[in-house]
Amino acid sequence: MKKSIGGGLLGLLAAAMLCAGCTADEKSDTQELRVGVLFYNQDDMFISAMRQELDECFRKTEKQEECRITVSFFDSMGNQLTQNEQIKQFIERDYDVLCVNLVDRTDAAAIIDEGKKADIPLVFFNREPVSADLARWDKVYYVGADAAEGGRQQGEIFLEYYKKHKDVMDKNGDGLIQYVLLEGEPGHQDAAIRTESCIKTIKEGGVEMRRLAGANANWRFNQGKEKMEGWLAEFGDGIEAVISNNDAMALGALEALDEPEWADLQIQVLGLDGIEEAQAAIKEGRMIGTVLNDAKGQAEAIVQLAADLGRDETPRAISHMENRVVRVPYDILTQ
Ligand code: BGC
Repeated sequence: MKKSIGGGLLGLLAAAMLCAGCTADEKSDTQELRVGVLFYNQDDMFISAMRQELDECFRKTEKQEECRITVSFFDSMGNQLTQNEQIKQFIERDYDVLCVNLVDRTDAAAIIDEGKKADIPLVFFNREPVSADLARWDKVYYVGADAAEGGRQQGEIFLEYYKKHKDVMDKNGDGLIQYVLLEGEPGHQDAAIRTESCIKTIKEGGVEMRRLAGANANWRFNQGKEKMEGWLAEFGDGIEAVISNNDAMALGALEALDEPEWADLQIQVLGLDGIEEAQAAIKEGRMIGTVLNDAKGQAEAIVQLAADLGRDETPRAISHMENRVVRVPYDILTQ
């Protein structure tokens, strides 16, 4: 445990302080662990679900372990320079451990070097640093998922649906599925890899595909909606399926489809993440399925690593961890 904070809140951008459990007086004889958590952008629907899971998990861990945990959550609002500045300040305040959702996943080297100099361990999550950066220090970890496996599971959902409802899906009966593709952010490990793996799985499953259009909608609901509006205007009923790298963009596409003009169109929409809104859309029959990107499982791994590393302990065993990288399994969610 490092020395305790010198009083007052961090003089940084909007910080949400969570002191889970008892007050300092009630627990004055227990250890205090100070954790900084930085999100690339809390406007992101999946990241906001992760924040909730992390919050709950830190509270639970504090109750289970003899330790007072103070967590400071920061939003880097899509700006790597802001995030670097926030990290610098956490380091100056001598926090015990930092959990970092990078804005730019190729920009981890300097952060790792700063952490190493100050001996403050780092748990990256969701946006994966390149392996050369992860190798810079042995107190650097990553928690995420296997992008190719996520895409493969999307492909399986698609194939399963196609087998059962071939006529509904192949509306024009040409033996091909005409689809549009909503891709995440360029350069993000979960964008191109999910796409490639999903399409490969569908093709290997014997279904011919024809891509009408595709675009990066940067994980965003609004951008997914906008792209879909454009494609509906261009291709209309020619679209048979929407494949989306995440649920937020898929939900945006669904909203575009809600316009009365398109009310009669049968277009199958497939997402990934398993956020609540997508699960509801599946129940209502508006989406054929999604893949659970296990925010809770990832939060549990992050919190366990942070608790151990922050106390200068060797991390306890964690399922699905190899070479300091934890890849929490995905799961298929359909009706
Ligand atoms: C999620 C997306 C999210 C992105 C943020 C991905 O793993 O599937 O929904 O927007 O991470 O980095």
